[in-house]
Amino acid sequence: MSKIVIANWKMNPESLKEAGKIFKDTLKEIKTIKKNIEIVICVPFPFLSIGKGLKSKKVSLGAQNIFSEAKGSFTGEVSLTMVKSLGVKYVILGHSERRKLGETNKEINRKVLATLKAKVTPILCIGESKRDRDGFYLAFLKHQLTVCLSKVPKAQIKNIIIAYEPLWAIGKNAKYVATEEEFTEVQIFIKKVISDLYDIKMASTVRIAYGGSVHPLNANNFILGGADGLLIGRDSLKPKKFGEIVKNIE
Ligand code: PGA
Repeated sequence: MSKIVIANWKMNPESLKEAGKIFKDTLKEIKTIKKNIEIVICVPFPFLSIGKGLKSKKVSLGAQNIFSEAKGSFTGEVSLTMVKSLGVKYVILGHSERRKLGETNKEINRKVLATLKAKVTPILCIGESKRDRDGFYLAFLKHQLTVCLSKVPKAQIKNIIIAYEPLWAIGKNAKYVATEEEFTEVQIFIKKVISDLYDIKMASTVRIAYGGSVHPLNANNFILGGADGLLIGRDSLKPKKFGEIVKNIE
């Protein structure tokens, strides 16, 4: 199966002009990629138009959030139909930075269901804020998964990407970077939870990516450790570095 590299620009850059330049430069950096790598660039809503006319088979456009209702009186919200009309194929859901703003597992679950219904791929983020010796963080992850996947039909599990993003490894204030062993442990655990919720076959079809301080030098470790993909924050805004990550994986 192809590996997936997801860029999460977060609330950056500050203008459409800059966004257009980063996008163009990123496409240039990854132009030579031949192998089976899927690249998804998740940009803020006002910049989605930069993907207009995108012809690359390797690169897709993604959003960083969505509202679960299709249309109507929801001031300030954005629907799946709207972003689909701009070419969006993936949506990041439940990122820890959104959870910090108050988004709950139940809301994320509604968004997951709506995204699947719209035939857009959800990138569901889960992650604990700290690890403890007794393994309570595993129960925390299980709870996140169980609620966020509630009512997701078995046949749809293969269409979801789960991104494991431990909070302690995200952003410039990260305490330390996760090791591939730490990722692999959780990857196995996620598969076990999916297997208990559905069955073992579903557990093998779900794609599990890693995110949190991924850079050109550590990216491949996670892939060799079994990750199906990577979610990249800071280094996705630097086309050269992002290009290096993709090339290293190739
Ligand atoms: P980072 O962000 O790569 O800057 O740590 C990852 C994320 O929050 O998705």
